[in-house]
Amino acid sequence: MVKRELVEMRRAEPAAVESLLEEEVAEWSSRLSWQRPRLLEQLRPLVVRGNLAGWLLALDGRPAGKVLVGEQGGVCSLEMAYVSPVWRGQGHLAWLLGRAAADLLAENPDQRLEAGLFPFSREDPGGLLRGAGFHELWRDYMVTDMPDSIPVAAHPLSPWPDELAEPASLLLEAYRGSADAECSAFYTLPDGCRAYLKALLSGSECGGFSRPLSWVHRDGTGALAGLVLGTVLSPGVAHLAQIAVRPDQRGAGLGRSLVAGFMDAARRQGIERLSLIVSRGNATAHDWYQRLGYRPSEPYVCYWRPGSPAR
Ligand SMILES: CC(C)(COP(=O)(O)OP(=O)(O)OC[C@H]1O[C@@H](n2cnc3c(N)ncnc32)[C@H](O)[C@@H]1OP(=O)(O)O)[C@@H](O)C(=O)NCCC(=O)NCCS
Repeated sequence: MVKRELVEMRRAEPAAVESLLEEEVAEWSSRLSWQRPRLLEQLRPLVVRGNLAGWLLALDGRPAGKVLVGEQGGVCSLEMAYVSPVWRGQGHLAWLLGRAAADLLAENPDQRLEAGLFPFSREDPGGLLRGAGFHELWRDYMVTDMPDSIPVAAHPLSPWPDELAEPASLLLEAYRGSADAECSAFYTLPDGCRAYLKALLSGSECGGFSRPLSWVHRDGTGALAGLVLGTVLSPGVAHLAQIAVRPDQRGAGLGRSLVAGFMDAARRQGIERLSLIVSRGNATAHDWYQRLGYRPSEPYVCYWRPGSPAR
């Protein structure tokens, strides 16, 4: 029987944390073509100073995994949950998440908690979380090589705006009542959408923001009707990080035009591979991306436990 322990990050040996982070970053690069060198740069000083919030998983006294605690738009989240490949498939990931969530809830039982991760194995990470009142939503990381023929934009597209207020309120409206808004509270809070967009633009969230790959469409009155936000995950790999069309403008090909703008610009930038993440329950978008050539490559799962701050 393996002895499992959670060690608070600030008490953990910095070299052990750093080596887990390096292992995780290398796995993201090989499995997802998603390079995160800045993440290591940003986290290293925090690790050394003991300022990183979260836990190290020790198995028989040896570092085997970790989970960090973050905050977005006032909501507490379990981030970057990771167990080394040699320890996978034995329930350690579910134990790590369950124990970390239990510790956070012991401090503040009414708080909303969210978690999102690539399990990188067939293991079910949610066993303990479901028992503690968490809901789950599975997403797919999808990829496609740049196709020979791409859709043509039938709508005029304008460059991404400097001011985030309009894109933030469009996101709020576009995701209202959706499964994505159930699991990510930032979609339900005006400040949350702005904070999320700011994180995307800063490069801390989802690859490096690319202005040339990002577009908006304005309706006849000049109001924002749709947006697409592109990032670059590694040389030659672009990610469709966000796409949203105002509900009253849907079904008329605007989404297709925005994707066309993103793909055409990506091709001009020499991009060879495209990726995105979409919820399996979002059948419209999931089926549509497959028609465009995207194929599921890695599952991503989100867990959330309702609580305060509420929508
Ligand atoms: C997904 C979204 C951007 C699509 O925008 P849209 O302007 O309605 O898209 P389009 O009219 O260009 O349609 C895109 C495709 O979906 C199909 N489609 C649109 N509405 C549909 C519906 N209600 N049912 C089934 N298919 C539908 C279209 O046929 C089209 O496919 P095709 O090009 O192969 O014919 C829009 O629904 C949205 O903003 N949703 C909320 C945000 C979201 O889910 N974003 C995606 C997260 S990855």
